[in-house]
Amino acid sequence: MNDIIVARALHVLAVVILIGGVSMATTVVLPAVRRRALGENQFQAFQAIEHRFVWQARTAIIVVGLTGLYMTARLELWDRFRSVDFWWMHAMVCVWLLFTLFLFVAEPFVLHRHFRTWAAARPDVAFAWLQRAHWVLLILSVITIFGAVAGSQGWSVF
Ligand code: HEM
Repeated sequence: MNDIIVARALHVLAVVILIGGVSMATTVVLPAVRRRALGENQFQAFQAIEHRFVWQARTAIIVVGLTGLYMTARLELWDRFRSVDFWWMHAMVCVWLLFTLFLFVAEPFVLHRHFRTWAAARPDVAFAWLQRAHWVLLILSVITIFGAVAGSQGWSVF
């Protein structure tokens, strides 16, 4: 079972890097950008930080997906997706899909093309919206992590 132990350790490590970064962006970086504490050009300030983190986040989401899929297949956990008791398994897949969409579709195609124009025209509205989107992802992730850690130890809300 060493392979499962390694897969679980890598899964959790990648989750920590990904959600830790999202938490930092939501609660520290975006408020500073909105206050213009990192310079008058808000898009440039945000881009300088986001541009480096996005590659860590992309690597982490791939590791999370591969290790999660590996554990599910190896432990034959597919039946869990039929039961509401394992809502946290569904939550992990949904959060994973949201992040994948955000990191591989929205970031390159929306952020770089449309958000830049929006941020130049109406920076306060654009960054308020961006922070709200980060809050939604962060809250969903925190609920999922709580549910997965507690649920994998046998805790059930239903
Ligand atoms: C960003 C999305 C995800 C997050 C935040 C997440 C988070 C977690 C956490 C915190 C654990 C508990 C680890 C422990 O306490 O030992 C876990 C376990 C697990 N995750 Fe995920 N995960 C995500 C995506 C996925 C995906 C896409 C799959 C694939 C179906 C998956 C499959 C699993 C499995 C099979 C376990 C072990 C469950 C058990 O031991 O009963 N995860 N995950």
